[in-house]
Amino acid sequence: MTTMKRVLSVASECVPLVKTGGLADVVGALPGALAGQGWEMRVLLPAYRALRPLCADWPEVFALDDLFGGRGAVKAGEVAGIAVLLLDAPHLYDREGGPYNSGGADWPDNPQRFAALSWVAAEIARRGLSDGWRPQVLHAHDWQAGFAPAYLAFGGPRDVGSVITIHNIAFQGWAEAAMLSTLRLPAHEFHAASLEYYGGLSSLKAGMVTADRITTVSPRYAEELMRPEFGMGLQGIVAARAAEVQGILNGVDEGVWSPEAEAVPYTATRIKGKAANRAALCAEFGLEEVPGPLAIVVSRLTDQKGMDLLPEVLPDFIAAGGGLAVLGSGDPVLEAAMLDLAARFPGRVGVRIGYDEGLSHRMFAGADAVLVPSRFEPCGLTQMYGLRYGTLPVVAAVGGLADTVITANPAALAAGTATGITFHPTDATAFAGALRQLGTLYADPKLWAQIRRRAMAQPVGWAASAAAYARLYDSILRP
Ligand code: ADP
Ligand code: GLC
Repeated sequence: MTTMKRVLSVASECVPLVKTGGLADVVGALPGALAGQGWEMRVLLPAYRALRPLCADWPEVFALDDLFGGRGAVKAGEVAGIAVLLLDAPHLYDREGGPYNSGGADWPDNPQRFAALSWVAAEIARRGLSDGWRPQVLHAHDWQAGFAPAYLAFGGPRDVGSVITIHNIAFQGWAEAAMLSTLRLPAHEFHAASLEYYGGLSSLKAGMVTADRITTVSPRYAEELMRPEFGMGLQGIVAARAAEVQGILNGVDEGVWSPEAEAVPYTATRIKGKAANRAALCAEFGLEEVPGPLAIVVSRLTDQKGMDLLPEVLPDFIAAGGGLAVLGSGDPVLEAAMLDLAARFPGRVGVRIGYDEGLSHRMFAGADAVLVPSRFEPCGLTQMYGLRYGTLPVVAAVGGLADTVITANPAALAAGTATGITFHPTDATAFAGALRQLGTLYADPKLWAQIRRRAMAQPVGWAASAAAYARLYDSILRP
């Protein structure tokens, strides 16, 4: 029997325990995906209030008496096959609200809350857990874990490799410069090539300058981050470290996201069931069975996602016979704009404000197309659900969207390789053009069936990416 190599994943979200976005899906999927690659991954997360009862009886495997103002204890357990380490530090995490905020306002002590998570990660990497487990690689996700590679690097010689994955550079984990000593960071590292960011500190930048490797969640996003339009002031660092930057596409859990597991199961070759799911979806949203394509949106409603373009492009799409079902939540202005569309186009546009995993499945199973008009998209998961369900993705050609969808241009149509529609730039003109093309393709049943078959055959699982992560970890193993 070969022994498994060990990697500690550090993050603020993980399915099925806590989720606000795709980060949670990825953090939750990686351990299973890596197990087949010879890597045993444990996931360190804060024990938010809702998670405390779960770990109350779990054994304590690590503790610090003074973790940024109180005791922090790490409890070890297993959830849905994932080896989970919950950091129980009530003074930081035992509060009502979301992981980052309450009622829309960020917790003022977020810098300490996530520095604490990162500190514990680095300490575990140095000293190991009381059950004898010590990682060989530390894998930090996003700004919340950005200080973990930094604490590890600043603590002297080390035998543990480190990686930071950028899921979204729009959040940099900013803190005032005066927090330097509170956050246990060395004063001599406060300069532009290290911790300093717009006069303050950025935990994401800290991770990016100290980790052995930087990954992004798609190859295209890695390139984009070297440009000022996408790099949020960190483009210089990404460019300077280009040789150590790698884009590795996210996958989706093909067991969870499978048209064969939906209310009326279907496959690429036995597609008939999709029509029944479509009818059910129309009924659920109070929509007519529209003659044109039935599109869906399942998304956080934020500036990133480009949903403010919908009111502009929708009238023509509806006039041409299309319909739309929206499931999302977020920015109150965008929520109101979506509800307004439903009021303007009764029977043609249906909107649910909220978060509903089950409903999202029924939407992918029933719809003809999924719309993802993002301004930037590090990877994106819903376009991949769309591929798998034969719910053709209509996406802005940015980041992971560009890397996963083959647009139905004449060359791809001639070669039979198209899997959806991409448009560029992210504006109403290009989006409207893509929706017109969607209508045209939908009106040609043979062509539509061909593209749908191709989309459903596209591999969107974790196999290739898990192997890429394993190779990356292997490349930074230290003696
Ligand atoms: P991001 O992480 O930027 O929000 P992703 O596409 O990577 O974008 O991941 C979003 C994840 O959250 C997907 O699994 C998507 O299905 C899910 N999701 C987003 N909004 C909702 C919602 N309102 N209801 C159900 N699932 C949602
Ligand atoms: C971020 C990005 C999204 C990506 C997800 C998981 O939330 O916005 O594009 O798919 O992280 O990596």
